[in-house]
Amino acid sequence: MAILKIAKMGHPVLRRAAAKVDDPSAPEIARLASDMRETLEDIGASGIAAPQVFVEKRVVVYRMIASRIPADSGIEPVPWTVMVNPEITPLTQDQILFWERCLSIPGLHGKVPRYPRVSIRYQTLEGETVDKEAHSTWAALLQHECDHLDGMLYPMRMDDLSLLAFNEAPGPLAEEATKHPDSLDPLFLDLVERWPARERWLQPIPN
Ligand code: NI
Repeated sequence: MAILKIAKMGHPVLRRAAAKVDDPSAPEIARLASDMRETLEDIGASGIAAPQVFVEKRVVVYRMIASRIPADSGIEPVPWTVMVNPEITPLTQDQILFWERCLSIPGLHGKVPRYPRVSIRYQTLEGETVDKEAHSTWAALLQHECDHLDGMLYPMRMDDLSLLAFNEAPGPLAEEATKHPDSLDPLFLDLVERWPARERWLQPIPN
């Protein structure tokens, strides 16, 4: 077990497509997944893809914990899950916006267009194929992590960069938190709570 170093945006390892894993049951894949999980536990985070720890293989580790589930989403917690060679299929045509952060982009958050319902197929560490369906922030998390396997970071998916902000100045997020707190991941509500200036600056933004 080891806590791994995380690549930051700008590093070439985050812009390359990762290689398919030929043998998901190989001991080095289990070791990698275990180290990725330990790295997430150390930070208190929920998802990571192997390229973020400088390993160019199609492996993602994630969980959905109760404290990260929006009140009105109906998502059930998902225990630690290792996905080898995951493939996402959108189940909707339209995308909607979800707030995201990324361990490779510390200090920032942004609102990213994602499919609100997807199916995902992946292999387990035992080599079994699993098919699942996911919705709302869970679906967004899966798209975010799988994007890492293709060299995509969330700002590259954004079409409105006015919704990219520092965690210390979560203006657009705070606007939304006053209107629809139940649809937000509690992690993002916490950013708003920790912004002392929100009362002073939360005026309607002129068009
Ligand atoms: Ni990320």
